[in-house]
Amino acid sequence: MNFFASLALFAGVALAQNAGIGLPTAGQQLSKGSDIVVQVQRPNSLTGSTEMAVAIGISSCATQACASPDEFMGTILYNGPFKPEYHESPTPPYQNFTVTVPSSFTAGNAQINVAHATLIGASQYPFLEALNRTVVVV
Ligand SMILES: *[C@@H]1O[C@H](CO)[C@@H](O)[C@H](O)[C@H]1NC(C)=O
Ligand SMILES: *[C@@H]1O[C@H](CO)[C@@H](O)[C@H](O)[C@H]1NC(C)=O
Repeated sequence: MNFFASLALFAGVALAQNAGIGLPTAGQQLSKGSDIVVQVQRPNSLTGSTEMAVAIGISSCATQACASPDEFMGTILYNGPFKPEYHESPTPPYQNFTVTVPSSFTAGNAQINVAHATLIGASQYPFLEALNRTVVVV
């Protein structure tokens, strides 16, 4: 197998492990001090995996460009177990997390950040990814 084929294969494997942010929706308005639902989806993959955890953070981008969640998760709203389950079809397995937007949070553009850790395949190798969703805090 040549380098690019193996790279593509690796990317495919990595992609199949990705979680996604179902909620909030892009550009959704979140009120300071209110409870919001962050829905983390975990499409079923062919390679078996064991979920470790997720962390959910919120960072402000009101006065500067949004930072990559790989480097900056912001204020942590949740950090704990992740147990995605099938609910309504065709939505992939997910878990809803109800978190509170800090009442002192800066109004304006913001980003919900999700860090997701899982163990993959027979070798149970660790995989970590960071996702973001742009929102507006009002
Ligand atoms: C947010 O996620 C999108 C989609 O994965 C990505 O293209 C973008 O670079 C991310 N934004 C930041 C600030 O990391
Ligand atoms: C998850 O949250 C969404 C939005 O509030 C809701 O429509 C859905 O029914 C919730 N799912 C479960 C299983 O509670």
